[in-house]
Amino acid sequence: MSDKIQVDLLIVGAGPAGLMAAAWMAQTGVKTLLIDEQSDHRTNGRADGLESRTLEILDSFGLADKVWAEANHTVEICLWCDSVDGPIRRDSIAPNSKAGWSRFYESTLGQGRIEDIVLELVQSRDNIDIRRETKPTSLDIDYSCIEDHSTYPIRMALDTPLRTSYESPHDSGISTPSTSSDDGMQPHNSDLRHGRSGTEVEAKYVLGCDGAHSWLRKQLGLKLEGQSFDHYWGVLDIVPITNFPDIRKRFIVKSKFGNLMMIPREGQLVRVYVQLPLTMADQYNMEKDPGIILRQVEAIMKPYSLKAKNTIWSTVYRVGQRICPKISHHNRIFLAGDACHTHSPKAGQGMNVSMQDTYNLGWKLASVIQGSLTPNILDTYQQERLPVAERLLQFDRRICHAMCSTRDLQSSLQGTFGEDHRRALEEENSSASGLAVSYSPNLLVTSTICNTDGPYEISYFSKQYLAENIRVGTRIPSKLVLQQIDSQSCHLHELFRSTGQWNLIIFGGDIVNKSQMARVRNLADSLSCKESYFHRFKTAREMKGDIEPIVVYLLHSACRNSIDFFDLPEIFRPESKYGGINFGRALVDNEFYHQPGGGELYKSFGIHPEGCMVLLRPDQHISFISELEDFNGLEMFLSSFTQLDC
Ligand SMILES: Cc1cc2nc3c(=O)[nH]c(=O)nc-3n(C[C@H](O)[C@H](O)[C@H](O)COP(=O)(O)OP(=O)(O)OC[C@H]3O[C@@H](n4cnc5c(N)ncnc54)[C@H](O)[C@@H]3O)c2cc1C
Ligand SMILES: *[C@@H]1O[C@H](CO)[C@@H](O)[C@H](O)[C@H]1NC(C)=O
Ligand SMILES: *[C@@H]1O[C@H](CO)[C@@H](O)[C@H](O)[C@H]1NC(C)=O
Ligand SMILES: *[C@@H]1O[C@H](CO)[C@@H](O)[C@H](O)[C@H]1NC(C)=O
Ligand SMILES: *[C@@H]1O[C@H](CO)[C@@H](O)[C@H](O)[C@H]1NC(C)=O
Repeated sequence: MSDKIQVDLLIVGAGPAGLMAAAWMAQTGVKTLLIDEQSDHRTNGRADGLESRTLEILDSFGLADKVWAEANHTVEICLWCDSVDGPIRRDSIAPNSKAGWSRFYESTLGQGRIEDIVLELVQSRDNIDIRRETKPTSLDIDYSCIEDHSTYPIRMALDTPLRTSYESPHDSGISTPSTSSDDGMQPHNSDLRHGRSGTEVEAKYVLGCDGAHSWLRKQLGLKLEGQSFDHYWGVLDIVPITNFPDIRKRFIVKSKFGNLMMIPREGQLVRVYVQLPLTMADQYNMEKDPGIILRQVEAIMKPYSLKAKNTIWSTVYRVGQRICPKISHHNRIFLAGDACHTHSPKAGQGMNVSMQDTYNLGWKLASVIQGSLTPNILDTYQQERLPVAERLLQFDRRICHAMCSTRDLQSSLQGTFGEDHRRALEEENSSASGLAVSYSPNLLVTSTICNTDGPYEISYFSKQYLAENIRVGTRIPSKLVLQQIDSQSCHLHELFRSTGQWNLIIFGGDIVNKSQMARVRNLADSLSCKESYFHRFKTAREMKGDIEPIVVYLLHSACRNSIDFFDLPEIFRPESKYGGINFGRALVDNEFYHQPGGGELYKSFGIHPEGCMVLLRPDQHISFISELEDFNGLEMFLSSFTQLDC
């Protein structure tokens, strides 16, 4: 028995990467099928940490509040090592992340719980069909129409369990109202519960989020490349009974008995990573006894005592850094997450980077499927994410080298912190945290160099001096801002929800100054001009009742009481779709009455007194910075990758 379905996007794998992609589809309404071979996701184990950028991303879907409340926040990091006369001693205490980089900081919460929270959003929309216990069995690509992005060139056969009408509602996952089980398709099978059926899927795009052993990657003939080192690490989630003073901080111990790292988790839990000699790793793999790992931990922690009251989860793994050099197949099939890069959990970024991969790709796919962006922008996925994965692997190699510098346990380096390890930790602190990821110039990120040498002249480029501290290609930072109309405060990031919309911020500067206000008015006139490409693009989708493809904000630095809201150009006080005026588009960088943090944005971003305009992609990365007069540059840039008729 087989049924046939046609979808815009098929996502294989409902781990962190697949779920993040599905979250975008939930927001944008793209018809999606999400499959996973497991009946349910794991509740314990695996990744447990979230870096600040991942929290910012979850927040843009409205999901961070829950995560932040349930998670434990890792504020400090301590380093411990052998002292001259024997027992381990504390070497340093430091903040775990750079202050001011993000309004969130590193936190820990089990991967299963994080997946639950994203899944709730995905399940709340009926454009996404989720099928568990389902895996692909074949892949066919029709190359004859692959360039025509209106076609469905990918055909996959799925092996899926038959739905039965007596399945209880909490037989989770198979909760897809659109594919009800009693649609008359049931064969007269004697064993309905264990029957399997085939489903034929035709898809425009396929996303391989099927983990390190990716089936899809193998089908495409792609391989993970790189070495695997013979370092073995034991991992434990325990409730510890201990007299160690830093047990609720993140800490690393390097001793003559080996190295370990612990991270405080939600509730009373801690996550332990400990280096294991090969013999112990082998023993664990045979006996699966967490006691083996625990004894190694006890030896390293001496003279402090550490016992496990409760062991929730344990595993042993081998460190390996591997990467797939190609993550896109004709811009139709994409790989993301562990399917295209693996590394040791030491750099602890698997889930972060996996979610950030599909956070990068999701809106691009949705925009191409909905016809507002040209298909060639899909090239930017590999251009942007492959370098991130490469950098992660290099970073991981350094961390591993530093933490596993024990080819010989007698090595004199053992038990102390090398400069390289320290530097690697500092790097994790800043750039590796995902906040500093910067995409190089491409179709969606303008160059900051005016290049007139090429075969043709590109007539737009970014003027970085107008906003010196926010770089083109990076995600915009966030500061407290106030509403012009009522002085309520909000964080800048809270405005830029992940809905697929672009955001244009007009930094008007001191608009009490008449000539400055005149410049803002001129730009507003151009933006509202009915014949302009900008206006036509902005309204093309709006008329179909969709989201606004670009939202325009004014963020000025004049004293808000000297400005009358109704004197502002109309584009900054548009009609609300609920009727009346949308008051949320005029903002000011002034001090807030109740809480520090307001009135610092212009200085912190390095906004030039002349002001500027800044165009943000749907993922909050900055794609264009230019002067208020450069409306032409903006139009030309936009028209290079968007389309009007969808
Ligand atoms: C022991 C351990 C500890 C870890 N600790 C950390 C940590 O501290 N920090 C960190 O950042 N990361 C850690 N990780 C890594 C982290 O779990 C992964 O990086 C992350 O889960 C990757 O997400 P993903 O969505 O790419 O893949 P996965 O989470 O592997 O998800 C893949 C999904 O695809 C499904 N699937 C696979 N094949 C098929 C198929 N053929 N058909 C249908 N479905 C399929 C699977 O069932 C699964 O649900 C750890 C991993 C392990 C194993
Ligand atoms: C994300 O990155 C942070 C900081 O690098 C790390 O400590 C944490 O474990 C990572 N989170 C996950 C889920 O891997
Ligand atoms: C986080 O850990 C602290 C102890 O360090 C504990 O008091 C707190 O309850 C924990 N918070 C959560 C949300 O688990
Ligand atoms: C992280 O950054 C802060 C501020 O720059 C610094 O004080 C701290 O030592 C750093 N932590 C580590 C582990 O490098
Ligand atoms: C007003 O703005 C113009 C244009 O930006 C600038 O040249 C001039 O110096 C400003 N005047 C004052 C008084 O700040």
